[in-house]
Amino acid sequence: GPALPLAGKRVVVTAGGTVERIDPVRYLANDSSGKMGAAIAAAALEAGAEVTLIHGRMSAKAPEGVEKIGVESALDMFEAVRSLWDRTDILVKAAAVADYRPARRADRKIKKHGDTLELELVKNPDIVAWAGEHKTKQYIVQFAAETHDAEENAMDKLRRKKSDLIVLNDVTVPGAGFGTDTNIVRVYDERGKAADWPLLGKDEVARRLIALVAERTAARNGA
Ligand code: C5P
Repeated sequence: GPALPLAGKRVVVTAGGTVERIDPVRYLANDSSGKMGAAIAAAALEAGAEVTLIHGRMSAKAPEGVEKIGVESALDMFEAVRSLWDRTDILVKAAAVADYRPARRADRKIKKHGDTLELELVKNPDIVAWAGEHKTKQYIVQFAAETHDAEENAMDKLRRKKSDLIVLNDVTVPGAGFGTDTNIVRVYDERGKAADWPLLGKDEVARRLIALVAERTAARNGA
């Protein structure tokens, strides 16, 4: 039969949520289920790619047949993305990365003292922005969850972070975003809207997204 659309390509998918330690028993986390990222990894595998799934905390099951790298914090995820960068053809950044982490990680459990406790947070590196700055051959897909001015914010983010596609979940719509098995997304490239799909299972969103990426990267390689 015909060659699979992503045969010979290495796809790196990040999924799940990062965990930012406060002390040995406490952390900051988020509600990411990792379902979208796991579905994308499965779809990329189906399309013939070699797939690495860099995953934070997630309830979704990683598909069989992908290389799995488990990480905890945004800094760990950043390190994993950088270590694979030269071998990456396509990066799909579906993880929910904490924007901030505790400035200090206490070595011992923080004791209860006064009525208030201040926790200082510092900014995490923006992994997808780093990728955009260091892109040579890599094709970059980022995600965005927006609640307002969705399209404008998505286009702005795409340009600022120099990615090739942005997948927008409008999280105000029921059935879209965190935890659900379905999603409603619009996809943009630097010229504007590239796709607008109805409510679909995350598996189907993933298949369509991978088909779009395969088409775009094939066109770029002059295939
Ligand atoms: O700016 P915002 O967090 O909405 O951007 C979301 C996109 O950026 C996602 O693709 C997410 O994985 C990525 N991101 C990242 N590093 C961060 C924060 C977000 O790669 N520190």
